[in-house]
Amino acid sequence: MEKAVNVGIVGMGVVGTGVAKILLNQGHLLSERTGQRFVLKTVVDLDWERERGVDLSGVEKSTDFEALVADPTIDIIVETVGGIEPAFTMVRRALAAGKHVVTANKALIAMKGKTLFKEAEDHGVELRFEASVGGGIPIIKSLREGLVANKIKNMYGIINGTSNYILTRMHRDGLDFGAALREAQTQGFAEADPTLDVGGGDAARKLTILASIAAGGFVEFNAIPVEGNTELTTLDINFAKDFGYVVKLLAIYRFNGEKLDLRVHPTLVPGDHLLAAVNNELNAVFITGDYVGDTMFYGPGAGQTPTASAIVSDLVDLAHVLQTEKTASITTVNPEKQVPLFSLEEITNRFYLRLFTMDQPGILAQIAGVFGKHGISISSVVQLETHGAENYVPIVLLTHEASEKAMFKAMAAIKEFPFVRPDILRLRLFK
Ligand code: HSE
Repeated sequence: MEKAVNVGIVGMGVVGTGVAKILLNQGHLLSERTGQRFVLKTVVDLDWERERGVDLSGVEKSTDFEALVADPTIDIIVETVGGIEPAFTMVRRALAAGKHVVTANKALIAMKGKTLFKEAEDHGVELRFEASVGGGIPIIKSLREGLVANKIKNMYGIINGTSNYILTRMHRDGLDFGAALREAQTQGFAEADPTLDVGGGDAARKLTILASIAAGGFVEFNAIPVEGNTELTTLDINFAKDFGYVVKLLAIYRFNGEKLDLRVHPTLVPGDHLLAAVNNELNAVFITGDYVGDTMFYGPGAGQTPTASAIVSDLVDLAHVLQTEKTASITTVNPEKQVPLFSLEEITNRFYLRLFTMDQPGILAQIAGVFGKHGISISSVVQLETHGAENYVPIVLLTHEASEKAMFKAMAAIKEFPFVRPDILRLRLFK
């Protein structure tokens, strides 16, 4: 006989409303596929004035989270409040009350995951978070179930839609950074604080989650080196294009079997790589497993219905747990294991360096001398004619593989030259 699974949602914003829409509109399909009936019993929010575009008649509308937690008929609580507090306290309370919880909250999982997974374990319930990375792309399920036979060697993610949208508009249409960001904000993918998007913090939260699953132990969010794309200009985008690259904000995971190289930064991706074709607000994660080889997962990384689609997949998994009392997913993250990270200084990369210098004799030789002194080999140099229109001319260099430490020292030395402007930009090439 069809069993009812009673769901409560806390936070009826864009994503919570999307979950309500799917549960109310796709009920028949879900029941046909799972043999269980999903009932949206209660929705909790503080504001019931706002029109949400979904018919909630028959659903209890409440402002009382504690009453939701205390309701013995509720099986699963969906948290779509966002941010750390009050979401952290709410999720903790729900787990402690013996409810399974589903969340889309990347900040919560990346920063408080360890505490919350322990709480879930202590109370014999599960905390699921498919929607926290890559929106509608089933990336977490794919990593922990579909690729379970593999050690994950490399993973490269375009996992911030706002940055990708900005970079696409700059690359394709020549928009400047500010104008492209304003467009992304209008389209609604940007965080309330867009510095999280363009500063790389949002991608770093998502990388923390993916890396913890791929490496099988917790990764310290604060230890990941993060650079955003706020310093990029259309000049750099065009230089990269001329060299045959597309600039993407990449979340990078490289594992040597012992230590992890995790980073978020703008990266010059070869124009013929699959990742170079991921445009606008779309997300993709390119994963190399030791047995499967190269795979790529692609799709909408944000938005109401893709995110809600991922949340509902977690609800279905948890309905299976409720029915069988067995976990539906393979546990791959050992909460006791902390995975060590390389520091940036231990890593080598190829670099793109853009600087503005006065157009005088001998300058290029002095700059090249600094690189030679620090053991950095230059692979390409371009200096454009300014026809006397500017006091400073842009020079762009690509290097062969060099240590981060050597590049740091070379940049510091170049900044000392009186003929170089302070706004030097260093990017890294895909490897
Ligand atoms: N601000 C995020 C993005 C939303 O642009 O990808 C989805 O997490």
